[in-house]
Amino acid sequence: MSKSENIIKEYLDYRNKIGNRIELYRVVTKRFETLSALYPGSHIDISPSLVIPKVIYIDNFNGAIKFFKNIDLIKDYIVENKEYEEQCDIAFIGQDYNKELDIEPVDLIISQYAGFVGQATKRYLKAGGILLCNDSHGDATLSYFDDDFEFVGVIVNNRIIDTNLENYFTMPKSKDIDLIKVKEKMKGPKYVSSVENYLFRKIK
Ligand SMILES: C[S@@+](CC[C@H](N)C(=O)[O-])C[C@H]1O[C@@H](n2cnc3c(N)ncnc32)[C@H](O)[C@@H]1O
Repeated sequence: MSKSENIIKEYLDYRNKIGNRIELYRVVTKRFETLSALYPGSHIDISPSLVIPKVIYIDNFNGAIKFFKNIDLIKDYIVENKEYEEQCDIAFIGQDYNKELDIEPVDLIISQYAGFVGQATKRYLKAGGILLCNDSHGDATLSYFDDDFEFVGVIVNNRIIDTNLENYFTMPKSKDIDLIKVKEKMKGPKYVSSVENYLFRKIK
């Protein structure tokens, strides 16, 4: 196998393992006309670049840093498979996403199973920009209680739903949500209703 084939196989194997998220990224991008995104804790999930022209990936794991050393080969694959007219622009930053980043504000931040990404990186999100996150580590919960964000939707079976949102982030028996515990345990609470992905708009 050539080096390029190896790299793409690594991505495709990872994509098979985590479940193909292209449709998820596609629906969000279409709805919010996303041209640029930041993906802290991306590991090697480069699927956003298939539907978003400019994506900045951040990860401090050695395996991810090694994968992105082949960014030219990754870019060749994206250019061949991308769904947009614009040029593709891919960047990778191999560092802790909590550290200062020298980047322009983006339209979308992607937070998937990688800690409190929304909290750590919201300053790089444009006002009006969107945070796509799950609650695996409690990132959606912290965003819900963050005045910088407005809860605007959930995604179910790759469809955006923006009505009856009051059914989410509600505890059984109307118990209070303990944000200190969420931060300590890095785990979202067990709500009455929960979904795989949540959408927040940055309002400040
Ligand atoms: C469970 S993986 C999820 C990867 C990818 N988001 C996905 O959903 O397939 C978490 C990734 O986040 C990265 N990560 C966690 N905390 C980080 C931090 N503070 N800075 C940079 N990367 C981080 C890890 O190195 C790892 O690659």
